Amino acid sequence: MSKTKKVLLCLFVVLVIIQFFRPEKNQSNAATPGDIFAHYQAPDSLKALIKTACYDCHSNNTVYPWYSQVQPVAWWLNDHIKEGKKELNFSEFAAYPAKRADHKMEELIEMVKENEMPLKSYSLIHADARLTQEQRVAMTNWAAEIRKVIQPNIK
Ligand code: HEC
Repeated sequence: MSKTKKVLLCLFVVLVIIQFFRPEKNQSNAATPGDIFAHYQAPDSLKALIKTACYDCHSNNTVYPWYSQVQPVAWWLNDHIKEGKKELNFSEFAAYPAKRADHKMEELIEMVKENEMPLKSYSLIHADARLTQEQRVAMTNWAAEIRKVIQPNIK
């Protein structure tokens, strides 16, 4: 066997083996009474957009396309989900103290305006998560409205 063939075979074996090490999925059947949309209104189109473009990393339920089941993609996605949820979890938004909730909306406005969210690596694959300028404006205006509702509750 040539050296190249040996290396390729090794790589293939490693790829097969890592398929058995799957991160636990971010999927919960539990109701999410603290979901942001259970507490704050949004037009249906914006709601759908946020669910499509943000919920995979910022909620308790990720929609997994087939390629996200393949390692090492699953690990990579899992890291983003863990980190993203820690920073902002739309499924539990209502449980945030007012100050934190307000700050998260402030961050959202900044990140969406500056094109930092959704993550580039994500919108590269998910065409439906690429936001138009109009969608960015709608999302940041909505977040600004929510801040107005939250702010009087800051202690
Ligand atoms: C592929 C996963 C992924 C997607 C999709 C995604 N995010 Fe994030 N988000 C992250 C990660 C990881 C972080 C934390 C690291 C960072 O700030 O870059 C983060 C951080 C944030 C923060 C910062 C919170 C803070 O307090 O610093 C906001 C706000 C945010 N995301 C909003 C959004 C919005 C709005 C969308 C949809 C338009 C979105 N994200 C889509 C992964 C994602």
